[in-house]
Amino acid sequence: MQYIDPIHTKSWKNLKNHFQDIKNVHLRDLFNQDVERFKKFSIVFDNVMLIDFSKNRMTDKTFRKLISLAYELKLEDEKKLMFEGHKINYTENRSVLHIALRNIKNKPIYVNGKNIMPQVHFVLNKMKLFSKLVINGDKKGYTGKSITDIVNIGIGGSNLGPYMATEALIPYKNHLKMHYVSNLDGTHISSVLKIVNPETTLFIITSKTFTTEETMINAYSARNWFLEQSGNIKYISDHFLAISMNWIEVEKFGIHDNHFFEFWDWVGGRYSLWSSVGLSIILSIGFDNFVDLLSGAQSMDEHFLNTDLEKNIPVILALIGIWYNNFFGFETEGMFVYDQNMHKFANYLQQCNMESNGKSINKNGKLVKWQTGPIIWGEAGTNGQHAFYQLLHQGTKIIPSDFIIPLQTHNQLGDHHIRLLSNFFAQTKALAFGQSVDDNKKKIILDKNDPELIEKIIPFKLFEGNRPTNSILIKKLTPYTLGSLLALYEHKIFTQGVIFNIFSFDQWGVELGKELASEILSTLKKENIDLCYDSSTNNLIRTYNDWKN
Ligand code: F6P
Repeated sequence: MQYIDPIHTKSWKNLKNHFQDIKNVHLRDLFNQDVERFKKFSIVFDNVMLIDFSKNRMTDKTFRKLISLAYELKLEDEKKLMFEGHKINYTENRSVLHIALRNIKNKPIYVNGKNIMPQVHFVLNKMKLFSKLVINGDKKGYTGKSITDIVNIGIGGSNLGPYMATEALIPYKNHLKMHYVSNLDGTHISSVLKIVNPETTLFIITSKTFTTEETMINAYSARNWFLEQSGNIKYISDHFLAISMNWIEVEKFGIHDNHFFEFWDWVGGRYSLWSSVGLSIILSIGFDNFVDLLSGAQSMDEHFLNTDLEKNIPVILALIGIWYNNFFGFETEGMFVYDQNMHKFANYLQQCNMESNGKSINKNGKLVKWQTGPIIWGEAGTNGQHAFYQLLHQGTKIIPSDFIIPLQTHNQLGDHHIRLLSNFFAQTKALAFGQSVDDNKKKIILDKNDPELIEKIIPFKLFEGNRPTNSILIKKLTPYTLGSLLALYEHKIFTQGVIFNIFSFDQWGVELGKELASEILSTLKKENIDLCYDSSTNNLIRTYNDWKN
């Protein structure tokens, strides 16, 4: 089968021509010309989320042309292929079914002719029973005390998803203390081992493959520490759990079947928080809240699958992203969530997006001649305002950004939240509409009376505006709305992958670094060996050897 490259579609060519008409149009004019703009370019989802995409550099015509691109590239068919369990992760010959993990309505989904829903529900139920024991204090450690601390050891998707969600849902959390260890740097695991008590700590080793270097080294360090403290190997099985698809390695580690929570090859690491990888989320917020998270995601799944592309939120955000990435040539996307508990959100989305769509070979195995996935970055608002927003407002680069805020806070404290909201509304307004020379003059004249100085200062105080944003207002950050938000972005990434004509669900780009690290490790462990790398690497290693003691 020959897959169509986006640049060879009629819609792409139309968009390219149309770009010439739009590239210098200002958002000020677009809003002045059309009083209905907000109404046209905003959607309410499930009565809990408003997506306002009106502050984008596009007209009705642009919008229609972008939607045509998605139709021409058969997005409708591609969506169905994923939801029906076809092996769309072609290079690994796997289905892509994170949507099955939140299929609360239990509609059968088949992989290799077998309905996978019973196994999904089996593991879900196992997590329910287990988490109940731990949360209620009935699960005891080796000295008979209840569990107080959970340490999740994992990296990438086995860390970022559960860590981000646990933090985001802190208002729902119980008494258990959660710790996440990912970095190979021994400082990370050591810092946690210093503060936990072996008698009351559970270690969850989360790794799809159970071979990832960082996770296994950290897991064995935790195991050694636990052995030293407890003094008996038989206690390991009480305090260690595994979340993986690799039972053979799990068993070798010494973990019992009843502490093994399976997931499957059709769940990608960066899409896995809905699976048993979410066990630490459940332990933190309870099973019912986790089910709400799944329900929120399922609701977005249904919206994505069943809504016409013109009204389809993930599709619209994906196409707007493509408009900037592929026609304007803007390379990065900012993610600014005005909620302190969402401080890991940008990191999480960075992996999800950049590991999925950071590819340069199309589905036909050829080098692409168009831009693929954007660079994703961000920070919790308002911290960013006092760090890098200067560049957003007045720099030479344009960073299309998503601004996200819950309208109801979990921490009603004085007027904090209303102030946070005012900052949020002000930023997207300032970015879109800027401040003209005339506005500026008026202001400066009020402040200062020296006309010469006024003329000199004016250029520095000019805000050109025309910097696009999406605003996402969430009624309240709950497990349900978080689930919907995360699924929204997952489907945005999927849609962009379809348009880019790339395989979004493999990650071969991480392999070379891993292979070289293992080769260099054996070099580093030997004494007086002839170095045969490039001159830079050789000399870096020599410096290490000279300075290591
Ligand atoms: O190296 C990248 C990666 O494979 C990610 O895709 C994944 O989330 C992470 O490593 C961890 O993998 P595992 O869960 O198998 O330890």
